[in-house]
Amino acid sequence: MGSKLFITGATGYIGGSILDTIVTNHPEYDITVLLRSVPLNFSTRYPNVKIIKGDYDSFDILAEAASQANVVVHNGNSDHPPSLNALIAGLLRRSTPGFLIFLSGTGMLSDWQSETYLGKLNPKIWSDIKDMDEITSRPDSELHRITEKIVQEAAAKHGDKLKTAIMCPPDIYGRGKGLAKTGSVMVPVFVNEAKNVGRVFYTGQGTNTRGWVHIDDLMRLYLKVVEAAAGGGGNADWGKEGYYFASTQEISQLDLAKATGKILKKHNIIDNEEPVQISLEQVDAMLKGRSIPKISRYLFASNSRTRPERAEKLFGYKPSAPTLFEALEQDISDAVGKN
Ligand SMILES: NC(=O)c1ccc[n+]([C@@H]2O[C@H](COP(=O)([O-])OP(=O)(O)OC[C@H]3O[C@@H](n4cnc5c(N)ncnc54)[C@H](OP(=O)(O)O)[C@@H]3O)[C@@H](O)[C@H]2O)c1
Repeated sequence: MGSKLFITGATGYIGGSILDTIVTNHPEYDITVLLRSVPLNFSTRYPNVKIIKGDYDSFDILAEAASQANVVVHNGNSDHPPSLNALIAGLLRRSTPGFLIFLSGTGMLSDWQSETYLGKLNPKIWSDIKDMDEITSRPDSELHRITEKIVQEAAAKHGDKLKTAIMCPPDIYGRGKGLAKTGSVMVPVFVNEAKNVGRVFYTGQGTNTRGWVHIDDLMRLYLKVVEAAAGGGGNADWGKEGYYFASTQEISQLDLAKATGKILKKHNIIDNEEPVQISLEQVDAMLKGRSIPKISRYLFASNSRTRPERAEKLFGYKPSAPTLFEALEQDISDAVGKN
């Protein structure tokens, strides 16, 4: 029997790239997507992809679709327990094992909720092989932890029927492959706040450092994990060990600010390219309307450092896409609508 995939978030930056990557590489897969509204050109671009209308709160629709698929790739919202519960319930209805590939993110491992390393380099670099005990016992207050826990607990309880993988990318850059949202989050948010301040900025020493991955490199990793799932498990790890970092480079806030400042000045968006040091209070005043209080500390002041050791070991994962600094001008142009 061929592989039946159910993909969510297929109009998003990451989910849209995943759908496009899978359709391009595996036209033989039988693919269904969940869409809450269907882009006009969707069926022209993906004539063989079936569409189910619904959203992440449509428990019955999600569960039924998952029960019909041997591989579910859930994207779009890494903090939505009801959709995960529905997909898991559906996969458990199957008579044969089902695979769930869940999109999380390294926000789970960021140090932003304590002041110790804000604006400073945290020496801790997380390993997705050696640190799995620590990773799986992070507190519920961490970003994406509640959803990761749902996945890991379900895998521990139903490991014979439910094979899970958690994809944990860092900040992503580069143009997405999908037909709707093709831009990421971090570069546009930083550019927007830099425009508000009138300068690119950092806080503390600016040595706080985060991992990054190009969307194309992340898609190569996704493809390996999806192909393994479609093949019944392949050489991928599942369950507690099914945890995949994807970072290919690290950049400090100060270096990001310097590179961004040059580009914004070149495009006459700011007058002075030199980064300016701002206080933590100024950081806290940013992005006030967001649902997570002080999320600007996470974005601009924290560390989030990970090494993709599992992907390297299992799949020989290595970056081949342009680095962030090579892609930054394009991403900034896209963000400010000047391309
Ligand atoms: N971008 C990054 O750098 C990054 C890195 C690591 C982790 N993450 C995490 O990955 C997740 C997705 O990020 P993204 O950048 O791909 O987001 P995005 O571009 O905004 O895509 C969100 C997708 O999810 C769909 N969606 C959202 N809520 C839905 C609902 N209630 N019902 C049905 N569909 C829904 C959207 O559909 P519509 O088109 O209908 O809105 C869209 O397809 C986020 O939780 C983010 O925290 C992102």
